[in-house]
Amino acid sequence: MESKYLINSNGSAGISSAFAVKRKLEPMKEQNAIKKPTNNNFNQQQKPNLYKNVLAANSNKRSSIDQERRSLPVYNCRQRILKELEANDTLLIMGETGSGKTTQIPQFLLQAGYANGGIIGITQPRRVAAITIAKRVAQELATGIGETVGYTVRFEDATTERTRIRYMTDGILLREAIGDRLLRKYSAIMLDEAHERTVNADVLFGIVKQAQLERAKQRLPKLKIIITSATMDIDHFGQYFGVRGMYLEGRTHPVRVLHAKDSQEDYIHAALVTLFDIHRHEPINHDVLIFLTGQEEIEALAQQIRQLARINNTGPSDVRVFTLYAQLAQGKQLECFLPVPANTRKIVLATNIAETSITIPGIRCVIDCGYVKEKSFNPGTGLELLKTVRISQAQAWQRCGRAGRDAPGKCYRTYSKASMEQFRSTSLPEILRSNLTSTVLQLLALGIDCSNFDFIDAPPPEGISSAHRALEQLGAIKPAPLVITTTGRWMAQFPLDPRYAKLLLSAPSFGCMEEMLSLVAALSSDNVFIGHTDKSELAALAHAKFQSKHGDHLTLLNVFSTFQKTEKPKIWCHDNFLNIRNLTYARNVRNQLAEISGRLNLAINSCGGDNVDAVKKCLLTGLFENIALLQKEGHYLTVSGRVKAKIHPSSVLHGKYKPQCILFTEMVQTEHNFLRQVTEISSEWVEEVLPAMKSFPK
Ligand code: CDP
Ligand code: MG
Repeated sequence: MESKYLINSNGSAGISSAFAVKRKLEPMKEQNAIKKPTNNNFNQQQKPNLYKNVLAANSNKRSSIDQERRSLPVYNCRQRILKELEANDTLLIMGETGSGKTTQIPQFLLQAGYANGGIIGITQPRRVAAITIAKRVAQELATGIGETVGYTVRFEDATTERTRIRYMTDGILLREAIGDRLLRKYSAIMLDEAHERTVNADVLFGIVKQAQLERAKQRLPKLKIIITSATMDIDHFGQYFGVRGMYLEGRTHPVRVLHAKDSQEDYIHAALVTLFDIHRHEPINHDVLIFLTGQEEIEALAQQIRQLARINNTGPSDVRVFTLYAQLAQGKQLECFLPVPANTRKIVLATNIAETSITIPGIRCVIDCGYVKEKSFNPGTGLELLKTVRISQAQAWQRCGRAGRDAPGKCYRTYSKASMEQFRSTSLPEILRSNLTSTVLQLLALGIDCSNFDFIDAPPPEGISSAHRALEQLGAIKPAPLVITTTGRWMAQFPLDPRYAKLLLSAPSFGCMEEMLSLVAALSSDNVFIGHTDKSELAALAHAKFQSKHGDHLTLLNVFSTFQKTEKPKIWCHDNFLNIRNLTYARNVRNQLAEISGRLNLAINSCGGDNVDAVKKCLLTGLFENIALLQKEGHYLTVSGRVKAKIHPSSVLHGKYKPQCILFTEMVQTEHNFLRQVTEISSEWVEEVLPAMKSFPK
């Protein structure tokens, strides 16, 4: 077995020699190093049955949590933060990851009375962070979730009228702004992880800035704004908000950085070799965090590590492997925060989630593959891609810092020092590389024309005009003078990409509203199929039952419809290798979409599942940009943008006969361009459904 050779290879092929010590991380303020919290007992409340022993052993939980809180760097700055906030309406706070910004600052505000006249809202770029952090803070305040502390993420609201601190994704706050541009519900808003510069956050910077000004003008209660981040371009933000930044002393330890002599193209293989080298030579209580790019490689490597650990006696003792990425089930996401038994090494494989928004205790070694999956949009082709790209230098240092939170650590980079010098210094803000259709529509619904909005960094004009073009084709806007149509307003009511909202608006006329509600809901959820298990073959067999020869959309519809009918969903999902959490989520989404549709008086009709053509034609009304035609050479060419691509191996149409004309949900780029979720369509329909698209090639 190839990988066995790897870990048994001698020193010369092993990782120790492949890496050379390059430099020590600088000004590490040892004097600030505070004793490691006695217990990493977090999130026990979510796992009472599993972790009973830990709980029992730790009867003194409250005081331990209090002690942990007091040991956080932000704690010493409490008075300063409150004083600054008293004097200024906007604060920029920069502080190391793990210093307590996200969990503590809202509590300081609560105690200082800021929640008396309104809610304290905190935005997060990721739902995982919004949820886990809200749970942690509820635990710290010894209340249940939804009491003083709650969270709201798309399709899930865990708040009540008693909630004073509300964690949410930035998309949620943006949506609320459509209802009330002055955000009157809030007395203070903390825009967290500002350095991530998501499109939503960038728009929110402008919205909260305007809301604050407008509220002052109208003599309404003040809106306090706090912008926080781990690595923020403080000058840029300072200029935009017209304030000075504040720096929190961090608590970090030295991290030794080891670069690969040559950049390792097969970074997964390099990570595996490095890991087992660490496992052989480093003390067993030094936990390892490996940064990879996405679910598939994370699960594949996790399985490989577990297998190798079983069959090789390479290390002194046992390992426990955990994974952490956005699509992972919530319960599983929390597992890596828990302590592992003595004489066991914790190994966490994560995406860039673990870079700044989440801190895992115990990590002493980081392996950084140097890549990240990033959204990129080509306004010329109209296609949005998830691409694996090099991280920025700022990200490389963030990842490195994760090894030095509790004690001195080591960071292994699978790329050379020379190649790192070629990395961008910081990542490009998402707004400069995204499809802006959704943003432009939301802003229009707010009465704002994107072209003259006060952006911190204005998106490229061709991005805006490409969004205008797409919205016009969807019937959401009319150009010159630019106005939002009724269809556009209705589309903005749905918490969906405008193209999917359009599917729901057109479904009644195709007589397939029930089907489209289910399909859009299922498409909004993460993968419902469980594939990466020891029983992949059995899973494939189980999944084959739902296969539709028409393609993935109808297959997904089959799964969801059967799930809706089943009386014992738990057993049924287990037997069929389906993800019950994602299907339940889809059911919840469907209910909410049906409710909005009801409010808009849309007819909830059904084609009975037999008229698949109605469903397929309806799909075209929103996803008409995503059509590809089979070429003589055997590959596909997308109609808009003429990009060469293949059907993704996960598709039911992969490896079968190749339809002439297909519609896909998205394109992903790895070593090839792959079209994911594919359905066969007839090219004849395009003109029937979209008379505007005259130039469609036959
Ligand atoms: O936002 P920042 O990175 O500055 O720190 P934070 O997220 O407020 O985390 C402060 C501390 O709380 C960290 O040291 C975490 O280890 C701990 N924490 C935890 O124990 N459990 C969580 N679910 C979240 C944070
Ligand atoms: Mg944070």
